[in-house]
Amino acid sequence: MSSNSSGDLRVLVITASTRPGRLGPAITDWFVRTVRPAAASDAITVDVADLADVALPLLDEPEHPAHGSYRHEHTRRWSRTVAAADAFVVVTPEYNFGMPAALKNAFDFLYHEWAWKPVAFVSYGNTSAGTRSAQMAKQVVTTLRMMPVGATVALRIADTVHDGQVAGSAALDAAARAVLGELSRVARALRPLRGGTDPTVVDAPVTGLTLREAQAGDLAELLVLQRCCWVQEAIVNDTLDLVPLRETIDDLRASLETWRWWCVRRDGRLVAAVRARAQERAWLIGRLMVAPDQAGNGIGSWLLSYAEGQAPEQTTHCTLFTGHRSIRNISRYERAGYTRTATGDIPPDSVRLSKPRTLQLTGAVQHGVPVV
Ligand SMILES: Cc1cc2nc3c(=O)[nH]c(=O)nc-3n(C[C@H](O)[C@H](O)[C@H](O)COP(=O)(O)O)c2cc1C
Repeated sequence: MSSNSSGDLRVLVITASTRPGRLGPAITDWFVRTVRPAAASDAITVDVADLADVALPLLDEPEHPAHGSYRHEHTRRWSRTVAAADAFVVVTPEYNFGMPAALKNAFDFLYHEWAWKPVAFVSYGNTSAGTRSAQMAKQVVTTLRMMPVGATVALRIADTVHDGQVAGSAALDAAARAVLGELSRVARALRPLRGGTDPTVVDAPVTGLTLREAQAGDLAELLVLQRCCWVQEAIVNDTLDLVPLRETIDDLRASLETWRWWCVRRDGRLVAAVRARAQERAWLIGRLMVAPDQAGNGIGSWLLSYAEGQAPEQTTHCTLFTGHRSIRNISRYERAGYTRTATGDIPPDSVRLSKPRTLQLTGAVQHGVPVV
C-alpha cells in the first residue's frame, strides 16, 4: 500500500542512537531545521522517530515480520509509524565501525513497511564521520527492499559539533537539502512499486487477495466498507441501532489501539476485514465484513479462520456475536464449529456463539504469505 495517498510525501527521520547523553537528537534537530523550509515548499511532511522513545525491546515477535502478524503493541505502533512514511533519513552514529544495535533491531522488527521506500543516511563519528556505520546499514536496508540514495551527509564530530550542537555551514546545509531533494525524487518515482507491497495470500479462496494488519491509511475505506456491510444487518434485524453504522473514523482509529484489525484487498481494493482481541481466556472476534459484491466466494469463512488462527496461546475459545435475525451469519458460524453460548456482554437482540480453540486447530489452515 502506498503509505500516503495524498500528493504529499512523508519523510521519517530516525534518530538511531539511544544512550543517555547521546549526540543523536542534536544532529536530527539540525537536519530537520535545515530542510524544513525546502520540505514545506515541496509538499513534504517531516516526522521524527527517536528510537529512544520508540523503546523497542530486543526483537520479541515469534513470527517472521514478513507475515505482518504482530503479537505486541510496541511492534504494531512501530509498524504504523514506518508504514506511514514514504522515505527515511537515518541519523546514525558509528559504534565500533558499524551501526548501533538499536538501529539494526528497529530494522529487524518489520518487513513490508520498509519496502520500496528510499533511505538516506546522515552519519556522524570521529575520523570516519560515521561512514562505516552507513555502509553497514546499506547492506541491511537493501534486503528490506529499501532503496539507499547516493546523497548523504557525513559529520566529523570534531569539525562540526560545538557545545553539543551542529555548527552548520553553507556547505553542510546544502548537503542536507540535497539529501531531501534526492530522497523526494526517488520516493515519488517509487510510488507505483509501493502500491503492491502487501503479502499476497497463497491459500485464499480467490486469487489476487492480499492480507495485512490495518493501518491508519486504511481507515477511510474501512469505514465505508463497514457502513455498507451493516446496512444489510440493519435490514435483516429491522433496526438502525447498530454501533457499526454510527461509528466515525475517529472511533475506528481509537479501536486500532485495542483491537487487531486485518484488511483483505483484491487488486488494491478493500474487500473484507475483521478484528479480534484477547479478553482473559476469550479471543473476541468481531466486525467480520465482506463487500457485498464479493460475498459467496468463501472470503468470509477464510478470513474468520485466519482471525481464529491469530488467537494467543493463553486463550481457550473464540467468541463472536451477531444479530439474532442474521440467519445466514449464524449458520455460517455454526458450520465453522461455533455453538450458541450464554449471552454475556452483547447488545440486545444479539446471539453469542463460541468455539473451543482445540476445534479450530483441527481445521488448521496454513495461511501462506511469502517468507524470506
Ligand atoms: C560504543 C561506542 C562505540 C564507538 N565506536 C566508534 C567508531 O567505531 N567510530 C567512530 O568514529 N566513533 C565511535 N564512537 C564515538 C561516537 O562516534 C561518538 O561517541 C558519538 O557521539 C556517538 O553517537 P551518540 O552520542 O549519538 O551515541 C563510539 C562511541 C561509542 C559509545
